[in-house]
Amino acid sequence: MRRKIAAGNWKMNMTPTQAVALIEKLKPLVKSDDVDVIFCVPAIDIPAAMTAAEGSNIRIGAENMYFEEKGAFTGEISPEMLVDAGVKYVIIGHSERRDYFGETNEDVNRKVLKAFEHGITPIMCCGESLTMRQQGVTMDWIRQQVKVGLLNVSAEQASSMIIAYEPIWAIDTGETATSDQAEEVCKGIRDLVEELYDKAVADKIRILYGGSVNAGNAAELFGKDNIDGGLVGGASLKEDFGKIVNYR
Ligand code: 13P
Repeated sequence: MRRKIAAGNWKMNMTPTQAVALIEKLKPLVKSDDVDVIFCVPAIDIPAAMTAAEGSNIRIGAENMYFEEKGAFTGEISPEMLVDAGVKYVIIGHSERRDYFGETNEDVNRKVLKAFEHGITPIMCCGESLTMRQQGVTMDWIRQQVKVGLLNVSAEQASSMIIAYEPIWAIDTGETATSDQAEEVCKGIRDLVEELYDKAVADKIRILYGGSVNAGNAAELFGKDNIDGGLVGGASLKEDFGKIVNYR
């Protein structure tokens, strides 16, 4: 049995001071024995969030990371910086990174490999646009994103990682994929992982759905066979996140 994950992606929200207040507020609400709870926060919030989350079941992750070790890359955050701050998870290749900052599948792959090199678990994102869905090429696109993202990733690494399926048309739009649509693609990703590795890896890898997950739809989405939880944007900044964690 795969453990469920409720991961928040705070995006570009919350100052360090606000981060501490939000974590203090959510701490009692997101307690759970059987769901892994991860808050991916802006880089500048990480130290304060780490301290605020101490002694709780909340794990702090990052929203991005560069694939070089160090050097002249103004504004980037290195894997070693994240490790030193105690980070164990990092979102890689979110559609907003791809769309606004030009991240390619190859960049995503380099970041995934670099995260593993430093013992950080990548949460690798994929997802199609509305046009792609309308043209019926969703699975072709997802397969390409995931396949390139997993290049040179070992079976052992793949078993431990997290993939998030986030249809772009459902992000921050209030429009959620139906649980059947989400399940279909998450199953497609798991089938691809089996093709690339084997059934044991496919059974272990955790695949999340993201895109307007809220307290009202989490139970149905997370109840699907191939959906191992959610990557949650807007609702992770509210008390609702407690209800998402405790969706059962
Ligand atoms: P929303 O939950 O705000 O739609 O965002 C989803 C997302 O992009 C999480 O990474």
